[in-house]
Amino acid sequence: MSTAYLNGEYQPLEECKISVLDRGFIFGDAIYELIPVYDSKPFYLSAHLKRLFRSMDQVNIANPYSKQQWMDIIQHLIDESGLQKLSVYLQVTRGVAPRDHAFPTETPPTVFGMTNPWPQTNEDIYANGASVVTVEDMRWDRCDIKVTSLLANVMKKQEAIEHQAHEAILVRDGYVLEGSSTNVFVVKNDEVNTAPKNNMILPGITRDVVVDILHELNVPLIEQAVAKQELKDADEVWITSSTKECVPVTQIDGQAVNTGKPGELWKRVFDAYQQCK
Ligand code: PDD
Repeated sequence: MSTAYLNGEYQPLEECKISVLDRGFIFGDAIYELIPVYDSKPFYLSAHLKRLFRSMDQVNIANPYSKQQWMDIIQHLIDESGLQKLSVYLQVTRGVAPRDHAFPTETPPTVFGMTNPWPQTNEDIYANGASVVTVEDMRWDRCDIKVTSLLANVMKKQEAIEHQAHEAILVRDGYVLEGSSTNVFVVKNDEVNTAPKNNMILPGITRDVVVDILHELNVPLIEQAVAKQELKDADEVWITSSTKECVPVTQIDGQAVNTGKPGELWKRVFDAYQQCK
């Protein structure tokens, strides 16, 4: 039974209980963060904490802890897990109050944290690549905030699964923004494109790491969303996230990307990413 954190206490995950009046449950009035951990050390911790603090700030949930207190909670959860490779999930809700859309006053936020073992890596996905489907983005226009209200994302992911695909690529007004839980990179003629960091995408930490790697490799990068047809005509496509790292996409809507094999630039970026850990 793994150890979780709830409002100041460490306890077995199965014993954690929150009120049904918690606004996270009632309204999805909550934000979250997910931090990958390698060799028992959180990866890009400062960047994840910065995004966590920004998420709270953007939805007007007062940050209940100092940076050091957050770091202590994360480290304690890692130590308790007994794992070396894992992820830490943190969630902050606006707390428990009678159901009313208006923010409650003087209600402390609910803070929850848990660890998860690293997902079983499907080696096949690196050898042969992932398949994706393109779908219409039906989310709100504050996708830059890491909110727990992910109904649109989970519905699109399910649509992908029903098409035997690994991920759904969200397209808005004909332009490729990101995946249901990943950022997207598109390679054409030795140039890389990714959607810019604005209110229409989640600013992925893995995206930042890959952007830094591309700069180090002197590969030109354009932060501009590409049209859906450009995605399909790409030389290479990659999807990135904290738990997937950088995955080559070899099939889009049932059609092969280029040769249908993971590309050479992907392999260089993937290898460089492994070195960052
Ligand atoms: N999802 N875009 C969306 C919509 C996401 O939900 C995620 C991450 C990303 C990639 O962000 P990062 O590189 O910081 O993990 C992009 C996490 C993993 C999740 O919801 O579980």
